[in-house]
Amino acid sequence: MEQTFIMIKPDGVQRGLIGEVIGRFEKKGFYLKAMKLVNVEKSFAEKHYADLSSKPFFAGLVEYIVSGPVVAMVWEGKSVVATGRKIVGATNPLAAEPGTIRGDFAVDIGRNVIHGSDSVENARKEIALWFPEGLAEWQSNQHSWIY
Ligand code: TYD
Repeated sequence: MEQTFIMIKPDGVQRGLIGEVIGRFEKKGFYLKAMKLVNVEKSFAEKHYADLSSKPFFAGLVEYIVSGPVVAMVWEGKSVVATGRKIVGATNPLAAEPGTIRGDFAVDIGRNVIHGSDSVENARKEIALWFPEGLAEWQSNQHSWIY
């Protein structure tokens, strides 16, 4: 089953949006497979955003991610990577549609509340980076047709 990496960024944690974010993924029909509240080191944030290291906003982005605890999560379900991106909304909150997390809760691209993997391959890499200890084993006892 497909998995994605979702992170509630420091502003999302500070603004009390953890439950809101979890609720949206849960109610859509996805399963929470791992979650932790952590402060990350600068070098770790740089690794997570390594693909963006040449961008002018990189230093500010890393500073933002290390400015407070983040909630790191793994969500599982049918097409969860692409659908997770839809739930998250466009990178710039001003372009994000109402009904998406960024569209509903953010106005600043530099404080856009949440991260979601943009491909299955990146999800795999991000899950390995954030959860080197592996994921807890649990199987939903619901029927396979209930999402
Ligand atoms: P990116 O991976 O392009 O977007 P997304 O988070 O939607 O996958 O960029 C990572 C983060 O970098 C983005 O969430 C916010 C920040 N960022 C800026 O601060 N300024 C920018 O111009 C861009 C493109 C991103």
